[in-house]
Amino acid sequence: MLWGGRFQQGPDAMALRFSSSFHFDFRLLKYELKVNTAHVEMLNEIGIIEGKELVEITDGLNSIEDEFVKLGKSVEGEYEDIHSFIEKTLFDKIGSVALKIHSGRSRNDLVVTSVMMWMRENVNTLIKEIKFLQLIILRKAEAHQQVLIPSYTHLQRAQPVSLAFHMLSHIYKLERDIERLGFVLSQIDKCPLGSGAIAGSTLPLDRGSVGKKLGFSSVSENATDSTNQRDYILDMLHASSVGMIHLSSLAEEIILWSTKEWDFVKISEEFTTGSSLMPQKRNPDIAELIRGKTGRASGNYLSLSTTLKAMPFGYNRDLQEDKEALFDSFDTFYMSVKLMAGIINGLSFNEDRFVEELNNDFTLSTDLADWLVMKNIPFRKAHDLVGRIVLDCEEKKVSFSKMTLEHLKIFDQIFDASALEAISLRGAFERKKTTGSTNPEFVREEIEKWKRKLNLESA
Ligand code: ARG
Repeated sequence: MLWGGRFQQGPDAMALRFSSSFHFDFRLLKYELKVNTAHVEMLNEIGIIEGKELVEITDGLNSIEDEFVKLGKSVEGEYEDIHSFIEKTLFDKIGSVALKIHSGRSRNDLVVTSVMMWMRENVNTLIKEIKFLQLIILRKAEAHQQVLIPSYTHLQRAQPVSLAFHMLSHIYKLERDIERLGFVLSQIDKCPLGSGAIAGSTLPLDRGSVGKKLGFSSVSENATDSTNQRDYILDMLHASSVGMIHLSSLAEEIILWSTKEWDFVKISEEFTTGSSLMPQKRNPDIAELIRGKTGRASGNYLSLSTTLKAMPFGYNRDLQEDKEALFDSFDTFYMSVKLMAGIINGLSFNEDRFVEELNNDFTLSTDLADWLVMKNIPFRKAHDLVGRIVLDCEEKKVSFSKMTLEHLKIFDQIFDASALEAISLRGAFERKKTTGSTNPEFVREEIEKWKRKLNLESA
């Protein structure tokens, strides 16, 4: 216990179990040891710890990680938190000189510093994994520029697009996820250590020196805010929640595409499971779980934002609730990103699946209306005219691909041979001209752009 002096009784066993954070904050060990080392080095620089003591303490700190691995799970329940574990273990190893390490600091500034360091490393790892997922999607896009699929609005067939174009849309979502994580990194770049419990310290601490040793760009400005605010964790929970929402809708598409009804993709066996009852089944469980765990990520944001609401003044123990949400959202997002890369890498596409159906469909109706607009027909009139043509075709069971000029002329004499081209499947792609459209030339340029951005050799 770090605070026994003014107490005559130890804590109630259940109260200790209820309040202990050690079973999750042990994940901060590596960072907490770095923070401790930087702090004692600084205490030595300002003359509070002697050189000999510094060596003893840092040697002791260096052995704690191994000690923890040795003790493993058996230490759970014994300690209030990771901070108590380190101080007690250090004391057991090097004796009373260990009692000096907490000079000029509090667990309130210590915990936020360690969490920020944990976040810096792990958010950077997460960004790398999202980039890798972008790369996997890009490879699939590049290999499927000629594959045509229907796009959907309202889950009804809308307009034909290339599979490459569709895949690129997911790369953009992931890019914004990376930008959100970049913002999170920008919010954890001021070292809070030295804020003390709430008001700073009477000791002549060199906060700049500690911050620099720990890789922060500067030090935080207000000790009350530094120990009380958890905005950066909320930002991370938000970034994870939006990221999971993106992965969830990607998972949903893959699940739909893999059904007999869609019959567009096969998910590789490694990412599917069987049914305990129906021998024929192969279920997309991993994609389903990515979709399902999105609720957990959104819940973590709600959970911490509710905890933080009406948080008075400085540190309150409620703030300990930040870490389980943080670790859980990170683990969920990180694993989902990695698994999604595996799923997409292993997808095989039924490339010809839609060609016939798109030819026999009316997904190029807008293209025909656009053709009329270019002949100076107001769009509303063009829309109505094409609607009547589609109705007639449906009644006569004629698709656009079988349409003749004579048939079109029944509706309006304005039609000529170029109108038939407007409703030919391949031609429709080339004629899309706007930036951001499914035009194959734009899609090719987009792929090259993303290759450069993701640092790939073009080949
Ligand atoms: N386990 C605590 C947390 O995560 C550490 C800080 C405790 N501070 C305190 N004054 N009791 O927030």
